[in-house]
Amino acid sequence: MKTTALVFVLVALRQTEAAATITAAAASTVTPKTGQDLFPYETVQLTESNLNPLNASLISLFGFDDVAGANITARNQPKCKTFPGDPLWPQEWVWSIFNVLLGGSLLKTVPIAAPCYSGPHYDLDRCTIVVNNWTDSALHELDPTSIMFPLYQGNTCPPTLTPTSECTLGGYPSYAVKATNTAQIQLAVNFARSTNIRLVVKNTGHDFSGKSGGAGALSVWTHNLKDIKYIPKYTDKASGWSGPAFKAGSGVIAKDIYAAANERGLTVIGGEGQTVGVMGGYIQGGGHSPLSSIYGIAADHVLAMEVVTADGRYVTASSSSNSDLFWALRGGGGATFGVVTSITIRAYPKISATVVSFSFISATMSTDTFWAGVRTYFDYFLDFADKGTYSYFFIYPFGIMQFIMQPFFAPNMNIAETQALLKPWFDRLAALGINISPVYSTHDNFYDAWIAGFPLETVGRNGQITGSRLFQRSAWEDPAQLNATFEAWASSARDSGALLINFNMAPKNFVGADNAVNPAWRNAVMHAIQGSNVNTSGTADEAKAVRSLVTDLQTKWIAVSPGAGAYLGESDPEEVNFQQSFWGSNYARLSEIKAAVDPKNVFWVRTGVKSEIMKVDSSDAIQDENGPLCYV
Ligand SMILES: Cc1cc2nc3c(=O)[nH]c(=O)nc-3n(C[C@H](O)[C@H](O)[C@H](O)COP(=O)(O)OP(=O)(O)OC[C@H]3O[C@@H](n4cnc5c(N)ncnc54)[C@H](O)[C@@H]3O)c2cc1C
Ligand SMILES: *[C@@H]1O[C@H](CO)[C@@H](O)[C@H](O)[C@H]1NC(C)=O
Ligand SMILES: *[C@@H]1O[C@H](CO)[C@@H](O)[C@H](O)[C@H]1NC(C)=O
Ligand SMILES: *[C@@H]1O[C@H](CO)[C@@H](O)[C@H](O)[C@H]1NC(C)=O
Ligand SMILES: *[C@@H]1O[C@H](CO)[C@@H](O)[C@H](O)[C@H]1NC(C)=O
Ligand SMILES: *[C@@H]1O[C@H](CO)[C@@H](O)[C@H](O)[C@H]1NC(C)=O
Repeated sequence: MKTTALVFVLVALRQTEAAATITAAAASTVTPKTGQDLFPYETVQLTESNLNPLNASLISLFGFDDVAGANITARNQPKCKTFPGDPLWPQEWVWSIFNVLLGGSLLKTVPIAAPCYSGPHYDLDRCTIVVNNWTDSALHELDPTSIMFPLYQGNTCPPTLTPTSECTLGGYPSYAVKATNTAQIQLAVNFARSTNIRLVVKNTGHDFSGKSGGAGALSVWTHNLKDIKYIPKYTDKASGWSGPAFKAGSGVIAKDIYAAANERGLTVIGGEGQTVGVMGGYIQGGGHSPLSSIYGIAADHVLAMEVVTADGRYVTASSSSNSDLFWALRGGGGATFGVVTSITIRAYPKISATVVSFSFISATMSTDTFWAGVRTYFDYFLDFADKGTYSYFFIYPFGIMQFIMQPFFAPNMNIAETQALLKPWFDRLAALGINISPVYSTHDNFYDAWIAGFPLETVGRNGQITGSRLFQRSAWEDPAQLNATFEAWASSARDSGALLINFNMAPKNFVGADNAVNPAWRNAVMHAIQGSNVNTSGTADEAKAVRSLVTDLQTKWIAVSPGAGAYLGESDPEEVNFQQSFWGSNYARLSEIKAAVDPKNVFWVRTGVKSEIMKVDSSDAIQDENGPLCYV
């Protein structure tokens, strides 16, 4: 023990020097490769010379993939990623050295609700805050490892004032690196690769499948990379873009980048969700937007990305640099090809918009009338989306049926124009005796319209299982197929009690982008999500029954939309044939790029590109992140 402690102190001293060297690199200017400046935090990079003060065995742990000794994974090819408790799991003092190298940014995971349970973290005040704010995305974003779909963590530490069980780590990672510079991310990637520990990336934790978690993992937490920079003129010959742009850190969320663009009288393409990590999983998975029917998918507007790759190196991905990686990172999905530290996106002129909200419920009419009313809406999907609008509407099937439009979003239209567009549909509702009271507001810029139209959504539904589908235009062009589509969609709510969360939009490839975005988006006119809830206090069999219900409902949606696809950013973690669903004809190339840039599978994410080669060995009723990750 004494020897170990002494060694640790000596090493720690030497590592402090190394950390100082890394920090000193911040002062030296790194030549930017894109012609755009790196953010200050991006100039703090790990280089060979930073590693010089370390001895050979430490270099093999923290050094790049192509240095002698740093080849542990390839030599051994163990069946599973190294898991806590395994003989090869790094000892405490190794984690301590890692922490020193990181400049103190290593966090040992404490489950967010641990203050509710007896033990060293018990804190009733904090527990009360966690319980009261559980459905608020901000609570989860500010925590290094919390996710917003706790079912996939294993619900091993639920928020409660009356705990009846123990709080355990479950599918939360073991450690997280609170990243505030590139060097820390490089060290984390190198360390995870050398020790064969599972590596995950958490930004906000919005992912529907809990893809930012993983038991026994080391997590890179990117939430604090929040720099935003306006670039008045960015020229990209390959895509023919010469105009304004914004470069933003990977922790930047929608409301921040929208506000920054608005201050300059400009508009950028991001999601409807206020707190979604636009520069994280959102854009890497594609990203739909209230502006999708006039600008397409968010990934279409990316100009460059700065990325830490699986070998620990830091590269620019753009049309002129690492262009294969650039192609894959725009739609290929997060945490698969590298850790992105910032993204540069195009900015467009100011856009006005009108927003409309209304609802109707089956309590004031027969159920048949309710569904007939909903059906009339489908007759206008092509017209509405082709005129540039985007809608976000829900069917709540809890007791009474509710149709909620929140909102209908009409870019470049004033109130009179929006009313004229909606009139034929509203007339038909009126003819059915369905009275609605639409509330209109119009705004001269996207930011204000978005704030008015999209209230903050609730998250953290502990048992929610979702699936989704990108329904294609062709179904709307054939009356019989449209009927079949509507029937399958409506039946999920009407006959099986599923919640329906839906979008009408037409995200064509307006700018001719060449990227990995799911081709199914280009002809989609509806992205629909269906969800059912597991009773987390119930039995495993009850949970499995809900799981098979969602699979069954998904099968019915697929049957009426053969060959279509699904949006990976809001999807089913057990999507059948996910490779085809999420990427269609792009999958083959994505798979090749994955093999080339990450030959050792440093990155793995459920339903990610090439993820079929591994799986999480979990014994929970629902497949989740609670178990070791092993080759199949
Ligand atoms: C309330 C809500 C609203 C939403 N609204 C929209 C919307 O309007 N439009 C839309 O298209 N989608 C929307 N989504 C889906 C959302 O875009 C995806 O869940 C997206 O993956 C979230 O990314 P994140 O970085 O915020 O979340 P996280 O869950 O932290 O990350 C998602 C995935 O990306 C990876 N990742 C994150 N950051 C990085 C990085 N820097 N480098 C590499 N990998 C990374 C993670 O490992 C994970 O696999 C919404 C989701 C919710 C819950
Ligand atoms: C390198 O340092 C580590 C940590 O103190 C030590 O355990 C190891 O023996 C050293 N290796 C060499 C080759 O000196
Ligand atoms: C790493 O391991 C592979 C497979 O065993 C081997 O082919 C390669 O030469 C090794 N590389 C280094 C740098 O040791
Ligand atoms: C979080 O909980 C605290 C204490 O219960 C409460 O005062 C606060 O308003 C909550 N914050 C949010 C954002 O809901
Ligand atoms: C579609 O369904 C409607 C009833 O909702 C029916 O009137 C119409 O004939 C059907 N069309 C086709 C082509 O089946
Ligand atoms: C969930 O299961 C528990 C335990 O069986 C039961 O007491 C409770 O009523 C269930 N809740 C719902 C909403 O079905």
